[in-house]
Amino acid sequence: MDTRNRDLRDLRISVTDRCNFRCTYCMPRNVFNDKYQFLPHDEVLTFEEIVRLAKIFRGHGVEKIRLTGGEPLLRHGIERLVEMLARALPGVDLTLTTNGSALKAKARALKAAGLTRVTVSLDSMDDATFKAMNDADFPVAKVLEAIDMAAAEGLSPVKINMVVKRGVNDRHVVDMARYFKGSGNIVRFIEFMDVGATNGWKMDDVIPGAEVVKRIHEVFPCEPVDPNYSGEVARRWRYQDGAGEFGVISSVTEAFCGACTRVRLSTDGAIYTCLFARKGYDLKSMMRTGKSDEEIHNAIATIWLHRDDNYSEIRTAETAKQQKVEMSFIGG
Ligand code: GTP
Ligand code: 5AD
Ligand code: SF4
Ligand code: SF4
Repeated sequence: MDTRNRDLRDLRISVTDRCNFRCTYCMPRNVFNDKYQFLPHDEVLTFEEIVRLAKIFRGHGVEKIRLTGGEPLLRHGIERLVEMLARALPGVDLTLTTNGSALKAKARALKAAGLTRVTVSLDSMDDATFKAMNDADFPVAKVLEAIDMAAAEGLSPVKINMVVKRGVNDRHVVDMARYFKGSGNIVRFIEFMDVGATNGWKMDDVIPGAEVVKRIHEVFPCEPVDPNYSGEVARRWRYQDGAGEFGVISSVTEAFCGACTRVRLSTDGAIYTCLFARKGYDLKSMMRTGKSDEEIHNAIATIWLHRDDNYSEIRTAETAKQQKVEMSFIGG
């Protein structure tokens, strides 16, 4: 356990720092433009290195692995990585968060490779709003097709992540709830966060999760449900008419650091013990200079024992402006 009595349970692996979207809250185009230096190929962990580290983390008690990016489906051969992880780590909950653009084509292969579930980002049901947010002219309809395909292939329930930003897409919260109500898939409304240092975050832009619930409740009466597991980031709400549930992730207004069991592995093989970390610990160099599994295991133990992160509990307007690692680099 770390200094706040938290175990290490979830490993989030960023498999690429690249993405074909330029979501304004994540990879704003004025920063992530032609001149932006993405990682060169030899800095990126190989599949073999990822699997080796995942096995070492498993030895520390990791039960859930989430592949992220950037956009993980852009990583060439991602199905092969899923298969390697599923084989090396039987019984692990192996999931992936994607923007959905390449999911329709890959859903079947991912399921066959051993992926258990999938989470798809979708910020509005309104095409103009969604295109303005993804800044890549990507239409809603294609993401919906990908969600249907993923559900049909058994990567279900599909979770849908909507980042809610005041004045941008908040008027579409109820439409989003309505569309997925009764579908068996689960929308989660996420408070806009100050991850990284490029997205111009202001507290005024955050719609508190409680307000999202209130707006939905006025149209579709709902009630709280117990978490699926301790430390679940989404608070669950059930429609009173029995048509399923949705979630709210209130990482700004109701921080959940107290039960944070997550560690993040960046595309270039460093680990970050908080989404808002300013520095990581380089494990790639340990692997590439011939350190043993035991040495790497012990290094991770030391890092975790000293961990005291609780950024979301101590956030201020000042900390929000500090230099922090970008989310596209360490995964969401
Ligand atoms: P499941 O319960 O297994 O479905 O996964 P999850 O709820 O962890 O979902 P997911 O990994 O998709 O996380 C949803 C979103 O919550 C992320 O994209 C982040 O925006 C936010 N989030 C997840 N983990 C953290 C965290 O450790 N800190 C903060 N501040 N936000 C987080
Ligand atoms: N605030 C909240 N959520 C974010 N995501 C990316 N950037 C932010 C942010 N600034 C979410 C995306 C996606 C997941 C990877 O992280 O919507 O669902
Ligand atoms: Fe790409 Fe996801 Fe970031 Fe959007 S939120 S830019 S889809 S990595
Ligand atoms: Fe965990 Fe850091 Fe998020 Fe808190 S802010 S929940 S410590 S990742």
